[in-house]
Amino acid sequence: MPHTQIAIDGPAGAGKSTIAKLVASELGFIYIDTGAMYRAITLKALRLKIDLNNEEAFSFIYETNFSFKDGTLFMDGEDVSRAIREDDVSKNVSLVASYISVRKELVNIQQDLADDKDVVMDGRDIGYHVLPNADYKYYLTASIEKRAERRFHDNLSRGIKSDMDTIKEEIRRRDHFDSNREYTPLKKADDAKVIDTSHLAIDEVVGLIIQNVREEEVYGF
Ligand code: DC
Repeated sequence: MPHTQIAIDGPAGAGKSTIAKLVASELGFIYIDTGAMYRAITLKALRLKIDLNNEEAFSFIYETNFSFKDGTLFMDGEDVSRAIREDDVSKNVSLVASYISVRKELVNIQQDLADDKDVVMDGRDIGYHVLPNADYKYYLTASIEKRAERRFHDNLSRGIKSDMDTIKEEIRRRDHFDSNREYTPLKKADDAKVIDTSHLAIDEVVGLIIQNVREEEVYGF
């Protein structure tokens, strides 16, 4: 039976993870959060106290195991979902995600995880690089104010208290870095549908995507 792949890309805080997770659960697909994988590698590097500016020191990636259970990322068997949201990880993840060797290895793993499965995958390079043949592609955007607000509440719900201005600044910095890196930057796939989520509730965006997928499955447009 053919499998269905849904790619969701966009800048930090556009609501990708929350939306992708809900779409996956509604459709009974597996959910793969690729940002969580870049964060986990950053977390491991910080714990190992390696020099983050030295790409070669990241060879530990080849002995790192990733698995997702109900959308939650386990690294080397440990649930790292909370630890990867800490400020230290957020501050350094763009640098780590700019290393070609790190990206190549994580993309291999992401493609293996998605192979032969009904999957929703979110990130920055999914639609045009990781899953270029995905059946459905979406690019989510939102104003910087909205995105900072969401990240603030997101953190709060995870028990992490943060400062709004710091979040805004960090999002700006991360967007700039993620969009301007040389290898597979944050970019919209040519055939992705853009959804501005600034004035939409989470369920409205989820509804739009589900409706679009179902209509295309039935009517083929
Ligand atoms: O979605 P997020 O904020 O958790 O992502 C964390 C970082 O990982 C983000 O700053 C950019 C990077 N990333 C990436 O470069 N490619 C992806 N496919 C996913 C995330």
